[in-house]
Amino acid sequence: MNARSKPVRKAVLPSAGLGTRFLPATKAIPKEMLALVDKPLIQYAVEECVASGIEDVVLVTSRGKSAMEDHFDRAPELESFLESKGKASLAEAMRRLAGLARLRSVRQQEPLGLGHAVLQARDLVGDEPFAVLLGDVVMTGPQPATRQLVEIYEATGDGAIAAAPVPREQVSLYGIIDHDPPIERDGRQLYRIRDLVEKPAPDEAPSTLSIVGRYLLPPEIFGYLERTKPGRGGEIQLTDALRQLARERTLWAYVCQGKAYDAGDKLGFLEATVELALADGELGSSFRAWLRDLKI
Ligand code: G1P
Repeated sequence: MNARSKPVRKAVLPSAGLGTRFLPATKAIPKEMLALVDKPLIQYAVEECVASGIEDVVLVTSRGKSAMEDHFDRAPELESFLESKGKASLAEAMRRLAGLARLRSVRQQEPLGLGHAVLQARDLVGDEPFAVLLGDVVMTGPQPATRQLVEIYEATGDGAIAAAPVPREQVSLYGIIDHDPPIERDGRQLYRIRDLVEKPAPDEAPSTLSIVGRYLLPPEIFGYLERTKPGRGGEIQLTDALRQLARERTLWAYVCQGKAYDAGDKLGFLEATVELALADGELGSSFRAWLRDLKI
């Protein structure tokens, strides 16, 4: 581990958004509770934290979204009901889910942007490096994306964000990274970030490398967030705080191994559903057979 790096023990999951891209499905339930196969999006994010060695998880929520906290809480009536019906292994799975991570939550009282949401977690994170996972981005692959960023932080002592190339006509959907040529570090290609732009027009984008929704940040980001003025869409953007951090310190971009699905988008949600269903031990082969025969 680099002399400057403290262990990464905490993650922040901004989960306060209104989910307007999925209305009417998200009118009465949080978008984070939409399920891919049989698990809600938020559970994939918490499982990624745990698989990355992080067990302290801070949910940034808002009014009407307490289903997320209920999901990770014990449910004694449900557990006894399942046991009385001979479904002991399902009851045990419900108990394991409640013990998956140490969850705490804080509310974002107004929808002032992703940067503002992360800032709400400041007291719960304290003076430590932490991960940020956007739950509508579901990542698959042999090693969790957050774990890959933790390893970069441990090796360099610097913050790192996950990146992916996108077609130029899609840059206005993402934060876009202006970067130096890649350097090799412990077998990984890292791009030092010069600047970042939130959702630029295609002809103004400094590159086609996008921010993917996984970040490993030093605690100093909170000071930058506090000073960040509303930017794109009138919101306090995490990207704008990161651009200041990248100018004054070192911030790396890394194209993580694995695939990223934007499950906050209908097409991305369907694509993630298909991949996860095909990979599912119980469903996979019958779903594959059904897909093969599907005639439309
Ligand atoms: C957010 C970030 C953006 C990033 C994207 C990744 O945007 O602001 O920089 O590229 O997540 O999914 P959102 O999709 O929440 O509008």
